[in-house]
Parts: sequence; C-alpha cells; structure tokens
Amino acid sequence: MTARALKVPGIAYGGDYNPEQWPEEVWAEDMRLMAEAGVTMVSVNIFSWALLEPSEGAYDFSRLDRILDMLHAHGIAADLATPTAAPPAWFFVEHPDALPVDKDGRRLSYGSRQTFCPSSPAYREAALRMVGELAGRYADHPAVVMWHVHNEYGCHNAECYCDVSAEAFRAWLQDRYASLDALNHAWGTTFWSQWYYDWDQILPPRATGAVPNPTHQLDWRRFSSDALLSLYEAERDVLREAAPATPATTNFMVMYNFDALDYWRWAPQLDIVSNDHYLQSADPESQIDIALSGDLVRSLAGGPWLLMEHSTGAVNWQPVNRAKTAGELRRNALGHVARGADGIAYFQWRAAKAGAEQWHSAMLPHAGTDSQIWRDVVQLGADLRALDEVRGSVGAAEVAIVWDWNARWAVELPSQPSGELHFQDLVRAWYEPLWRAGVAVDFVRPDADLSSYRLVLAPSLYLVDDEGAANLTAFAERGGTLAVGFHSGMVDANCHVRLGGYPGAFREALGVRTDELFPLLPGESVGLTGGGTGVLWSERVRLAGAEAVASYTDGPLSGVPAVTRNSHGSGSSWYLATQPDPATLAGLLDLIRRDAGVEPVRKAPEGVEVALRRGAEADYLFLINHTGRDAEVAVAPGAVELLTGKPAAGSVTVAAGEAAVVREPRRD
Ligand code: GAL
Repeated sequence: MTARALKVPGIAYGGDYNPEQWPEEVWAEDMRLMAEAGVTMVSVNIFSWALLEPSEGAYDFSRLDRILDMLHAHGIAADLATPTAAPPAWFFVEHPDALPVDKDGRRLSYGSRQTFCPSSPAYREAALRMVGELAGRYADHPAVVMWHVHNEYGCHNAECYCDVSAEAFRAWLQDRYASLDALNHAWGTTFWSQWYYDWDQILPPRATGAVPNPTHQLDWRRFSSDALLSLYEAERDVLREAAPATPATTNFMVMYNFDALDYWRWAPQLDIVSNDHYLQSADPESQIDIALSGDLVRSLAGGPWLLMEHSTGAVNWQPVNRAKTAGELRRNALGHVARGADGIAYFQWRAAKAGAEQWHSAMLPHAGTDSQIWRDVVQLGADLRALDEVRGSVGAAEVAIVWDWNARWAVELPSQPSGELHFQDLVRAWYEPLWRAGVAVDFVRPDADLSSYRLVLAPSLYLVDDEGAANLTAFAERGGTLAVGFHSGMVDANCHVRLGGYPGAFREALGVRTDELFPLLPGESVGLTGGGTGVLWSERVRLAGAEAVASYTDGPLSGVPAVTRNSHGSGSSWYLATQPDPATLAGLLDLIRRDAGVEPVRKAPEGVEVALRRGAEADYLFLINHTGRDAEVAVAPGAVELLTGKPAAGSVTVAAGEAAVVREPRRD
C-alpha cells in the first residue's frame, strides 16, 4: 500500500453509477436519494467510451463534466473509471483485427463488452489515448478521489488465440527462456515429437486433436495473465503521471470460477486493492465464500481493501437468480467489512430499464424507494457510518493457507490422475471447518515470509517451485506446524514430476513415501479408522519416519496409512492422503490446530461467524449470526457494541440473522 490513500472518510459506501443511461432529470433524484442512503463514493464512467469519443479522436466530455461537477456539489466522491473495458463499435469497424479469437479459431464479434484482444496494438493505442485525455482533463477535479482502471480485467477476454497474440506469446517466451533449447527442455518437447526449431513454430495452445503439452498450457496461462497486467500498468502509468497523488485500483474477481489472473503478481501494482464478489445461488452457505474471498483479498492487499461490487439482491447471469433473504444484504456487507473491507459498494446504484443487465438488482430497485432493498440500503448506510473508526484496522491470523494460481492452473490441466480435483473446492473444504470454529486465517504464497504463523496449511499444492517447497519445509523445521493435502508437491515450476516417490517436494518433511496413486471414482469412498470416510483420493503411503494417525479400512489399500504426522526438525508436519468427509476433516483440523497451539478468535455458538479486526487503539470483534436463533457471545469488560452504540456488559446477544460489531480494549 502506498501513500496514495483514499480520501474518503470512514467506510466508503456506494456503487457503480451510470447516469448516462438516464435522462438528466433523474440525476437530481439520484443526488437526493444518495444523501438519504449515506452514499459517499460512486464509480462512474465505466462503460462510457462510445459517448465520450463518438468517432476516432473526436471527444465530448460535456456530460462527464456535468456528472463530476454534480457529484462534487453534493459531497459525493468519484472513483473515476477509464472506460476501456468497452471499446465503441467504430473502433472494431476500423480495427477488425482487434477482435479476439477463441481456442477454436472463431473471431468474436463486438456488440457486448470486453471484446478485444489483450495483445492488440490498435486497442492499446486507442485505450491509452482515451486514458490520456481523461487524465489530462480530470486529474485535478475535486470530485475525483481514485482511478478505477478498466473493469474486471479478463472477465470476458482472458485469452485470445489470434496471430497477434501468438506473436506476443513468443516474445514473452523469449523473455522467460532466452533460448529455444531452454524452452524445449522446460516443456519436455522430446515427447510426441514436439521439439521446436524456430520460435515462429510456437503457437498458442489452440484446439488440437489430442492433449496439448502441459507446460505449454501453463505458460499460456501465465502469459495471458501478464498480457492483461501490462495493459493495466500502461493505463496506471498514464494516470499516475497526470495525477501522482491519486490512487489507482482495478476490481479483482477473487471468486468461484474465475481463475484467469495471478493476483499475487497483480496486487503489488495497485495502490488500493479492490474486489467484486457475487453469491452463487447454488451455494447454501455463501457466507463462507464471502469470508474466504475476503480473507484472500485482504492477504493480497496486505491490509484493508475495498469491496467494489456485490449485489443487493439477485444477479442476472446464473441459471436461476435468487433474491436475498431477510437480513442477508446486511450480513453480506458486514461479512466483507469483517474481513478487512474499508469500503462497500454495489453493482449498481439504479436498476437499469434497458440493456443486458435490466434484470440485475441495484441499490435503488425498479420498485423504487417503497421496497425492502431500499430500506436495507438506507439501514446499511447508517450501519457503516457507525463503523467509521473500524477503518484501517487489520486482521491478525496465526494460520496461513497456501494459495497459488500456478498450482491451481496446473492441477486442473487435462490428463491428471483425477479430473475431479478442483483447486478452489479443495481449499474451501479445509477453510470451512476453520471458519466454523472461528479461527482467523490469512492466505499466503508458497514463498511468503511465514515467521508470524504457527500453522501453515497447503490443501492443494500440486505444483510448487523449489523456493516455495524449501520455504514451507523450513517453516516446519523451525518449529511450525505444516499440514499438506494429497497430490501436493508433485511437480516443479515447469510441471515436471519430482521423481523418487510422492508427494515429491514434501516427502522428507512429511516422513512418507508413496509409490502409487489410487484416485477414487465419483461417488466412491474409502473407510478410515476412527469411523470416517475419504473421497476423491487414496494412495499407497509408506511411513518413512511419520506415524499413522488414520488408515484406510477397506478397498485395495486397507491397512495403509491415510493420515500421518511427522516430527520434522522442531516442528511437525501432517499429511492427508485422502479427502476426509467434512466431520472427519473438521476433527483432524481441530487436532492439528491444537497441536500448533492456535486458538479461535472467540468461542461462539454454531453458525455465528466470528472475525477480528485490530486497530491501533482497540480490537473490533465482528459477530454475524447466520442462524435462526439468538446467540450470546462473551466480550471483554468495557466493550461497546458499535451498531447500537450500547455498552456491552460481559456479553452481547446477537439476534437471529443479525450482526454485532464490538469494540474491545486492545489485547496484546
Ligand atoms: C460484474 C461487472 C459489472 C456487472 C456485474 C453484474 O462482473 O463488473 O459491470 O456486469 O458483474 O453482476
């Protein structure tokens, strides 16, 4: 985080504001209602390119001038977007080569948004020209407190397989490998006659007859993330030059199903990290997804962050789009604040009448102010004002979960021992019991500084480079507790198998050696001593220093260790060679946590979410009751519940479906 801080007091509140979609008479009502809701900051101009530049080089900023002046006159800050996520139709008519090409060689058409090739020179030039105009005009506008660069990079165009992208890919590869020989060895191209004799022979991994080379595919993911990152950096540099003190952000999508960008590489390039989060209708416990994504974003940011988008109710892009239940809007928003969000914003301010998102909820719904959503939105504004002092406070976790996009990409490549391993599901399975127990968690890269943690978990780390493996192993040697999930440590940074037995890089630290893998079929399970079962995976583990904590009780591996514990250096390391059923996994993680000496943030009844933010002067205990029963939680003497402003004498009662935020004297 840099000195380019957000100049908006307290917890910022607002959403995407698209006044250009409405007649100007409506704007006055917007200003009145934003004041009523307590809105302090809105994101504007995200999709306005076609209105700002009607034809190449001809600009009309008059409407945006009026919008920014109006916001300033009403004391509302602007998070001013560069409109580069949606180039106008004229641009594609003039530059049809800038349209992206999919894996099957189909060139897509314009008519929606983000239909550009990330490596297109014409796009880069047009986008930077527009950003230059915008920056020059508004760098000193008093409403502008932040630059919102682009929108959700890679949401619709994470990969382009055109010839221009192929050329950019080759340049990226030359930079990475310097010589073709090095590339051929890294990719293992002696296999299937894939040896390259000329850089020009290398293509993107386009649709082909059989399985493409895994390292080729992995480098393609790395390249595609970097191609978009370089667009972000180019825009940011133009903005920074014009307005050196104004922070820049771009909204991440650390959520289910989006895995295109390696956000560990992106986050250091942002002045303020922001994220978008939407509930999945099919997830019955989406509060856990909110917590996981919030912990991940806080970890990426290294501190507080902004929730740039979520929804007040239903979205419009799932098979069936569920509304939120009573109190859910408030619980969701406070759930993000609990995990470090210093700003809460929605897509969008006013529900659209026309366009592709006309059935998406908003702060001001189609029904107008006589609606539950509006009442909740106004209530939330008051809640966030009551939490002003929470701003800037940070998390304090003794547990770290290793999260790595390279490992995620690699484990989900085709032709794995099992096609059933989904990185985010594997991580969430381990995260859930910790969430239920109220244990604070950070996420880390494999090579992170681990000195502040007692316990490090690597639920899924199929690929790990040498540095990461050494770092994790050294953590256990120096007295930490390390727990590793199956199919981890298997391949190096080039996706080459680590030989000599599994789990490759962690064999020694875990004190086990596996000679063969026995993944389980969908629906199949294996019994475990102690009464539990395992799914997804089993393997023929032999002890090489570790002790067995549980073994398989049936199937071909009956009697073979399934969970092990090893004393390694002055620490200990655990191996889970199957995916235990949720109750068994919870029991094991409880055991491992106690082994590491980690305590929950606070004891609370089941279903009451607990999280702590630590400020310079006080601790802030968030209690969110996701159950239908009132719950009582003990708090420190001298505590105050901030949402009601009432002193809490020894304990607080959190009513069914409600939340409490308790200021406690800081404990060190
Ligand atoms: C986001 C996007 C917004 C809006 C929203 C709808 O992905 O940034 O512009 O489309 O989804 O849920």
